[in-house]
Amino acid sequence: MSPPNGHKSLWLVLLFGMGVMAESLNCPVKCTCQYLEVNCTGQQLQDFPTTIPLDTRQLILATNNISYLPSVELNFLSDLVYLDCRENAISEDLDFTFISLNKLIYLDLSFNNLTRVTFTTFSQLSSLVVLKISDNPNLVEIEKDSFANNTWLRHLDVSRTGLTFLDISIVKDLPNLKSLGLSENLWNCNCSFLDFTLWMKESGVRFPDPENISCYSPAALHGWSMPGVESKLHYTCLLHLHDTDYAFLGLIGFCIFSAGTVAAWLAGMCVVLYEFHTTRGGNDEDEDEDEESSSMDRTGGMGSARHMGRRISAS
Ligand SMILES: *[C@@H]1O[C@H](CO)[C@@H](O)[C@H](O)[C@H]1NC(C)=O
Ligand SMILES: *[C@@H]1O[C@H](CO)[C@@H](O)[C@H](O)[C@H]1NC(C)=O
Ligand SMILES: *[C@@H]1O[C@H](CO)[C@@H](O)[C@H](O)[C@H]1NC(C)=O
Ligand SMILES: *[C@@H]1O[C@H](CO)[C@@H](O)[C@H](O)[C@H]1NC(C)=O
Ligand SMILES: *[C@@H]1O[C@H](CO)[C@@H](O)[C@H](O)[C@H]1NC(C)=O
Ligand SMILES: *[C@@H]1O[C@H](CO)[C@@H](O)[C@H](O)[C@H]1NC(C)=O
Repeated sequence: MSPPNGHKSLWLVLLFGMGVMAESLNCPVKCTCQYLEVNCTGQQLQDFPTTIPLDTRQLILATNNISYLPSVELNFLSDLVYLDCRENAISEDLDFTFISLNKLIYLDLSFNNLTRVTFTTFSQLSSLVVLKISDNPNLVEIEKDSFANNTWLRHLDVSRTGLTFLDISIVKDLPNLKSLGLSENLWNCNCSFLDFTLWMKESGVRFPDPENISCYSPAALHGWSMPGVESKLHYTCLLHLHDTDYAFLGLIGFCIFSAGTVAAWLAGMCVVLYEFHTTRGGNDEDEDEDEESSSMDRTGGMGSARHMGRRISAS
């Protein structure tokens, strides 16, 4: 071994030793710590563990009883790439919880008690690729622009939540989306869903468990699978008219009818007035012509072609 290499390996051993020491000192109780990974699965933790090594890349808190993610402690872990919080009791509003985890790629919040997602919830997670928020039965709202800043998102799962509706703009502008879990939600397939079902058909995104993605309401569409319901929605929403449409059409019809009546009346008036005037004007002209022709006769029969033409056309 040449001296420089030996030097290097010595440093590596030293660093590794220090790392191991730091980790064994810092590893939270009930958790196991391997290099850059902290695993606290199934330890009935009630709170987010303290003393997590700051260089942790992978943090697994699955199957505990944690109800609150403290923003300050969490965001000290700025190298975090993988965070698994599935099967906990997180019900807090997560806005401003993930503010400096901009290396986070994988986030699992499934089997919790989330209630809503807004733009602020995940907007700072600009590297996020996998987001699992399925099995949150009280999750009833995902705001329109919730994932506007998560352009790397590839896998999104919102299965088995309290959602009844997803706005097309939530998913339409995710250029890297490959898989979207939608199954076993009580989807409300009203006309606002038409664009979404159309997008499902055309986007090329994969929908796991397609047999379990179906409409729950309205009653007429209960049990229809998505996106198969698209043709039905298309027919119901675009071809069938609503009462307001009929009222509108009726109003337009009435306007056309009224305008027609007024126009006909005006036209009639014009014709009458025109006839009245032309009859009077014609009589004057005849009188003029008679006068002219008599004067022409008197001036020696040099009748102009103009008068001849006029007489011919008049006859
Ligand atoms: C975390 O620990 C649990 C059991 O303690 C184990 O089943 C699981 O595979 C571990 N996860 C990882 C990613 O090491
Ligand atoms: C979780 O905590 C609640 C009280 O906060 C307790 O009733 C429940 O038994 C706990 N569950 C587990 C699995 O520890
Ligand atoms: C979930 O949160 C709601 C309030 O948002 C609460 O009423 C309910 O008890 C919670 N459920 C669980 C299992 O923690
Ligand atoms: C969107 O992500 C970028 C990082 O890519 C970040 O700088 C920016 O603050 C985020 N926007 C908002 C409104 O959070
Ligand atoms: C469809 O239902 C969703 C909620 O389920 C609602 O927000 C939306 O306004 C409804 N659209 C129409 C056209 O009724
Ligand atoms: C569909 O849902 C049923 C009932 O919830 C479940 O038993 C079945 O495993 C689901 N299918 C898939 C492919 O997940």
